[in-house]
Amino acid sequence: MSRPQLLIDTDPGVDDALAILMAHAHADVAGLSIAAGNVGLAHTLRNARTLVDLLGVDTPVFAGCATPLVRAPEEDAAFVHGRDGFGDVGLPEPTSAATTEPAALALLRLTRERPGELTLVALAPLTNLALALRLDPTLPARVARLVVMGGAVTGHGNTGRVSTEFNLGFDPEAAHVVFEAFPSFELVDWEASVRHAFDDAEFDRWLAAGDQRADFFGQVMVAARRYNASRDRRGVIAADALAMAVALDPGIVTRSETRAVAVELDGRLSRGVSVVDWAGRLGRHAQAKIVLEVDQARFAAMARRALGAPI
Ligand code: BDR
Ligand code: CA
Repeated sequence: MSRPQLLIDTDPGVDDALAILMAHAHADVAGLSIAAGNVGLAHTLRNARTLVDLLGVDTPVFAGCATPLVRAPEEDAAFVHGRDGFGDVGLPEPTSAATTEPAALALLRLTRERPGELTLVALAPLTNLALALRLDPTLPARVARLVVMGGAVTGHGNTGRVSTEFNLGFDPEAAHVVFEAFPSFELVDWEASVRHAFDDAEFDRWLAAGDQRADFFGQVMVAARRYNASRDRRGVIAADALAMAVALDPGIVTRSETRAVAVELDGRLSRGVSVVDWAGRLGRHAQAKIVLEVDQARFAAMARRALGAPI
């Protein structure tokens, strides 16, 4: 089977890091376009370059928008991922450089050079993707698939706003642009990520058996793990890694529902909520394949390989 061909929009971020390690273990990666989100753009850009160094690859890194499209964000996720996004463990300055091409332009160029070939994996607030769409609305026709990590389809969420998931809540307008523009995409939401957390003891065994990627990830994940434990969340929740697993192998999905999904832009309590038309009341085109269950053993095998642990 030929290797998946990916283009990744990301805001690394601990779970982004695992996703990027998985991508490079299982696929060819045309580029990393970088968004602000978990922490500010200077940090997410630096973290992407750190991963490129760690992997010893020449994957191009493109800087994106430093702010959401319209409103300043209410919160970042430094309290989960650390102030630098990688657990504040004192990593050295990376040696690889970002390119000078802005992320939105790179998304357009790479999909023009390889129409229909690339799967776009969106692991961050959707700011870069929305900008690219506003510049060129024909973008969806050039993408093989779009896989989005975002939303909270059963309303739990993971932000200070009830029912809102971080990526959608950080830039709701961008998410709206993307959800309206793409005729179909796969959606991996927060609640699916919680259901597919890795067992803590098992994950520790992979870290112990892995290579330098496992050593790195074991360090940067400590703060996020501590935070999740303090919130009574069980296991290693890796939302972006789950979305990446679906991008790498759509056959991993064992249960899904295809529904119209919109993003609430206003709402006294609900800005950034993913509104799922479960009963089809609005008569809108059902554009989102909502991933509900995946084969956990296959997901685990992908993560193990990405850490260099024997399968
Ligand atoms: C998403 O928000 C970020 O904190 C994570 O990296 C992931 O992309 C989970 O809600
Ligand atoms: Ca992310």
